[in-house]
Amino acid sequence: MDIFCIQGPVRLSGQVTVNGAKNATLPIMAATLLAEGVSQIRHAPDLADVSLFCKLLRELGCKVERPRKGLLVIDATKIDRPFGDYEIVRRMRASICILGPLLARCRHAEVSMPGGCAIGDRPVDIHLCGLQALGAKIELKGGYIIADAPNGLTGTEVFLGGPFGSTVLGTANVMMAATLAKGRTVIESAACEPEIADLARCLRKMGARISGIGSPRLVIDGVKQLRPFKHTVIPDRIEAGTFMIASAITGGHVTVKNCRLEHLMAVVEKLRATGAIVEPDGDGCTVSMEGPIRPTDITTLPYPGFPTDLQAQFMALLALAKGNSVVVEKVFPDRFMHVAELNRMAANLRKEGPAVLVTGVKELIAAPVMASDLRASAALVLAGLAAKGVTTVNRVYHIDRGYERIEQRLNALGAKIFRENPDAKTEPPQTERD
Ligand code: EPU
Repeated sequence: MDIFCIQGPVRLSGQVTVNGAKNATLPIMAATLLAEGVSQIRHAPDLADVSLFCKLLRELGCKVERPRKGLLVIDATKIDRPFGDYEIVRRMRASICILGPLLARCRHAEVSMPGGCAIGDRPVDIHLCGLQALGAKIELKGGYIIADAPNGLTGTEVFLGGPFGSTVLGTANVMMAATLAKGRTVIESAACEPEIADLARCLRKMGARISGIGSPRLVIDGVKQLRPFKHTVIPDRIEAGTFMIASAITGGHVTVKNCRLEHLMAVVEKLRATGAIVEPDGDGCTVSMEGPIRPTDITTLPYPGFPTDLQAQFMALLALAKGNSVVVEKVFPDRFMHVAELNRMAANLRKEGPAVLVTGVKELIAAPVMASDLRASAALVLAGLAAKGVTTVNRVYHIDRGYERIEQRLNALGAKIFRENPDAKTEPPQTERD
């Protein structure tokens, strides 16, 4: 199992280019299932999760090729069996978004229930209610969701709000299913995340009739058939935000290219509140931090609020602020596995329910730490860049799921991160993942 040894502290400087968004690529891969023929996805990141989704599509009967970096060619002419196996779904929650497309195209789907993971319970009840509203009959049997719509789905009004706001993948599922339903579907309280808007734009290229893209009210007029597509995925705002915070936490000066600042407004505002200078720069921005880090409070919210996927990384930054901050998590109230690990590095963090009180410390001190999930591991890497000494981050397979070669890209900015494999024979455990 690979580990990172991070020699700190360092000051990052230089230029880094952001890849295509993981969380846009995965549902767009699922969208290929809606049409017979060969679709092309460009700027797909080379990540463990994308490879696993390729495997899932192949098991359904699709032909999947990656002829060159960033390009995915998916032939969904034939679906042998609309079945999402537990062995894959439990390892990657995004697999659940094959349910809507399979149901719409094959009128029957069996997909494993994903189960919980390190960041919380993560139920799929809203996905299922949405599909039921479209007329699907849904049963749970042996850990599988068995969905049937023998006469096809029918458009209706669907409300997708839940206790923590809308649902991102739930919106993807219901929107994809509705594209082939009879009549009009109105989704209220739809997720507005840029990845959902990107999926909707891709569905439009397939011939879907969708309006309200990017808003909480999507109107979808079902069509009889969709066609394959060619689509370039948007840049990964979470990867971009991670590099921006990396610059700030190291007192650095980093230009982040291929980054859409309009997708990161809440993060830019909070970075500026900490004293970072964020300047738009061509197709991205430059982030620098000269003085001491100032404290600030953050509350994660659905888009356009502060993203939960950057909460852990921002907490690492606030841990070094001159003063106290409060971090409130309103999307996944249990997403705090990084707190104890950052405290191992001499941070002063106290969890109180869905909030963490951050008392800024003068310095972080290197320690062996354990990555628990994708974004928590990114936070530990950022902390390691700023900490004095050699931090070892265990279980970095978590980070490989969402960041392509992160150590090489940070090293190109001046980091000193070494990937090591102390026990080449041990395979990463096949546990439930984000
Ligand atoms: N929820 C329900 N019922 C549902 C669905 C969700 O109660 O049926 C709750 C969740 O438990 C959570 C909240 O609603 O409290 C929001 O969950 P959501 O469904 O929006 O999350 P998701 O679609 O499963 C995606 C991203 C996550 C990201 C969240 C929130 C992908 C593949 N995953 O998950 O990304 O944190 O939206 O923005 O798009 C990551 O990349 O590290 C990651 C975890």
